[in-house]
Amino acid sequence: MSKILSNTELANIADEFGTPLYVYDADKIKEQYNKLTTAFKNTDTVFFYACKALTNINILQYIKSLGANVDCSSINEVKLALHAGFSPERILYTSNGIAFSEIEEAKDLGVIINIDSLSNLEKFGKKYGHSYPVGIRLRPNIMAGGHLKISTGHAKSKFGIPVDQADKIISLVEKYNIHINDLHIHTGSEIEDVDVFVKGIEVLFDIIPKFKELEVIDLGGGFKVPYKKGDTETDINLLAQKVNELFASHPNPGGKHLQVWFEPGKFLVSECGYFITKVNVIKESGDTTFAGVDSGFNHLIRPMFYDAYHRIENISNPNGEEKIYSVVGNICETDTFAWDRKLNEVREGDYLVFYNAGAYGFQMSSNYNSRLKPAEVLVENGKAKLIRQRDVFEDLLKNQVI
Ligand code: LLP
Repeated sequence: MSKILSNTELANIADEFGTPLYVYDADKIKEQYNKLTTAFKNTDTVFFYACKALTNINILQYIKSLGANVDCSSINEVKLALHAGFSPERILYTSNGIAFSEIEEAKDLGVIINIDSLSNLEKFGKKYGHSYPVGIRLRPNIMAGGHLKISTGHAKSKFGIPVDQADKIISLVEKYNIHINDLHIHTGSEIEDVDVFVKGIEVLFDIIPKFKELEVIDLGGGFKVPYKKGDTETDINLLAQKVNELFASHPNPGGKHLQVWFEPGKFLVSECGYFITKVNVIKESGDTTFAGVDSGFNHLIRPMFYDAYHRIENISNPNGEEKIYSVVGNICETDTFAWDRKLNEVREGDYLVFYNAGAYGFQMSSNYNSRLKPAEVLVENGKAKLIRQRDVFEDLLKNQVI
């Protein structure tokens, strides 16, 4: 939970750009990326940034400059990645539940594709045969992740082709001579226990021998980062060690070398992000004091949607007496960011900062209640640069047929 931007820096940025405001610290992204590449330096491992976490073009370009590739979850993310300058061979499209036309589009753009259903695999085989290497997303039937809503590999999950249907996959691969070069799994988000990845690899080891042209196993994303004081993050060094040991003890049948891919989202961009709000109203009510900020779950949905904990600090009064507050938004329904949270005395006009706001913060924001989406700022080389304008009223009318 390292904190890189100081209270003064954050307050100055908020004074300059207004609130509510998302602020991202490029150095923190670099620090996280370096942790990954350092831990896996003696292995053939490639990292694809799961850009659904935060797709601002400036962030994509910064992450590209670090040397990472990019993982996309829609054709539009693929197009954003191309727009940011990633070459197609550095773009992975891990699809789920999509129309075949989107796979055709991705193929025409020349990006790497993971297919997640038997029906799309069959359509792919019929149309392209052996001509275009493709990956398969498998569902390993492993329960993992920090919340049921972000668990994706368990036996009731919609994601991937259930691994117990391997025979069906093989018969399609043989029938159409499909070139399978990658097997993919992603079991969930906020996985602290590295043995989850070990289990996933073991599941894959059982079926790897059936795919003669395999070059890659893709273990998805899901590394945990600390949100609360005292939280730990996934031990990336231990993970690298275990992955190495597993590969050393299971030489690939056929003697072929396999590259390992990961798709980290939160690990790269969660902690780089600060969401700065301003307190509009203090309301006393029985034994509760509400601190009402100039935002709501339309801007940061994680607490209401996943019961997520985001650390909050009153950067305007860091030495004020500690009191208990419920931090709430201004949306016209219950939108509590934090229940009974100890904060330094909060006064109207103070800046409250939410930490870990880089991943799935702005990206999941909306215009609910016809509120405007916040601006975004990137701090790089000590300079704060506006990377997204705050919405203006006209944005609410855009696309409406009047
Ligand atoms: N790869 C695939 C195929 C994924 O579905 C995801 C996330 C990732 C990689 C990146 O996972 P990460 O490293 O960020 O945990 N909105 C939720 C998280 C949803 C994650 C969806 N898939 C949240 O705010 O907690």
